Amino acid sequence: MIQVLDKRFTAFLSAGSIQERIREMAGQINADYKGKEVTFVVILNGAFMFAGDLLKHIQLDCEIAFVKVSSYKGTESSGRVDEIIGLTNDIADRDVVIVEDIVDTGITMDKIVKILNANGCRSLQIASLLFKPDAFNGKNPPHYTGFSIENKFVVGYGLDYNEHGRNLDAIYQLTD
Ligand code: IMP
Repeated sequence: MIQVLDKRFTAFLSAGSIQERIREMAGQINADYKGKEVTFVVILNGAFMFAGDLLKHIQLDCEIAFVKVSSYKGTESSGRVDEIIGLTNDIADRDVVIVEDIVDTGITMDKIVKILNANGCRSLQIASLLFKPDAFNGKNPPHYTGFSIENKFVVGYGLDYNEHGRNLDAIYQLTD
């Protein structure tokens, strides 16, 4: 049991089991993209730890881009405008793999996929460490999933609770 800010969390996925699963995911990506050059697009902040460990096991010729998704209120009455900040790599005609920490409702991933597709990539797949199928209501489920988990809040290994807990090497689940 650990405490992050005002909430208590219980051990959920151990550091060892996360590393083991990531090695398997990397093996699958290495096999699927054999002989191809890949651009990995890492979604900050949450995916920083997952990306670091996953990419150590990638043996493909690759570029790695680090981006943030921002949503701001535009001047038009049409509501919120979404953009990807920091994408300096040219992804036109590239095979792209998005590296994300968690796909929950899928709303964020739908926005990311829409923007990256508009940049003309050749192919686009999603690698997400965690997936919450019961919360998912999007168009783009991950192609590579580390762990499908129940619809409960988790923290650690890059995932935060109000910006805290990202540094934990394991994943913890909110107690009821
Ligand atoms: P979405 O609901 O799929 O759009 O998820 C949006 C974002 O919410 C994810 O990229 C995470 O940063 C965050 N998120 C969703 N579920 C959790 C969780 O259980 N713990 C920490 N962050 C989460």
